[in-house]
Amino acid sequence: MNVWLNGHILPLEKAHISPLDRGFLFGDGIYEVVRFFDRTGMAMDAHMQRLERSLQLTQIKGFNARELPALCEQLLQAENLRDACVYLQITRGAAAMRAHLPPDNIRPTVFAMAHAYGALDTLTTAAPISLSIQPDLRWHRCDIKSTSLMGSILPMLDGRAHHADEAILIRDGFVSEGSSSNIFVVRGNKVATAPINTDPSILHGTMRTLAIDAAKQLGFDVSIRPIEESELATADEIWVSSSGRVLASCVSLNGKVFSTGKPAKMACAVINCMRLAVENLLVKTP
Ligand code: PDD
Repeated sequence: MNVWLNGHILPLEKAHISPLDRGFLFGDGIYEVVRFFDRTGMAMDAHMQRLERSLQLTQIKGFNARELPALCEQLLQAENLRDACVYLQITRGAAAMRAHLPPDNIRPTVFAMAHAYGALDTLTTAAPISLSIQPDLRWHRCDIKSTSLMGSILPMLDGRAHHADEAILIRDGFVSEGSSSNIFVVRGNKVATAPINTDPSILHGTMRTLAIDAAKQLGFDVSIRPIEESELATADEIWVSSSGRVLASCVSLNGKVFSTGKPAKMACAVINCMRLAVENLLVKTP
């Protein structure tokens, strides 16, 4: 496997990072995950904007977010992948000694890798997903795509008792988001998802935006509003959106069969609509 490290493509075994890297010592870094179909990145502009925002908010300097598409393209070519997920991580870099406050002259460590993921025809139905409901333990700035992810991992570990793939996180009685995704709740024709510009915040999900657009296009009644935890039990459908999953449909909640126990009707309609949008994009991209 070839990876990208600080401007070079090299075999994974040759990619060495200092143990003094602040990503390793402090989780002092940010990341992006981009889904590719036939070498075309989904929502690439939104990923670049979010990356730029994360870099600014964390004051990590020395990487230009506009390099993202070319970096991904180089990596996909090196790995001979067309349908894939690219993971990019930028840490603040390695200093001479461990100190919480970084020195001024530090250079970031930029690392990226790609893995094969399903092709576009896998988006004809929403994948089934098992979820558990867990408390949101995270900090206030979840709009920053930080590599410090203990607050996401602990609820997922607790959800293993229910064989859950992801956790729905609850803050003060309301759904904030998934442990690595955004959440939609559906009742009848009404689709709801939580707002992003709140304090505490949630991630500005790229697939969340595409799913909202697709649901509106299909004529569903979409609202961006706080979702009470109690709405989960009575929902007809629960959707999970992320670059890795695109749109998954809940079939099990807290270890019990949810709704029909199968990927739900409206979720499948939405993912099909998202698939068509990517198909159109591919036609326009030579
Ligand atoms: N996670 N919320 C959180 C907390 C996330 O970690 C993610 C993505 C999302 C969805 O964002 P997007 O639709 O842009 O992928 C929402 C990635 C996939 C991950 O951590 O691997």
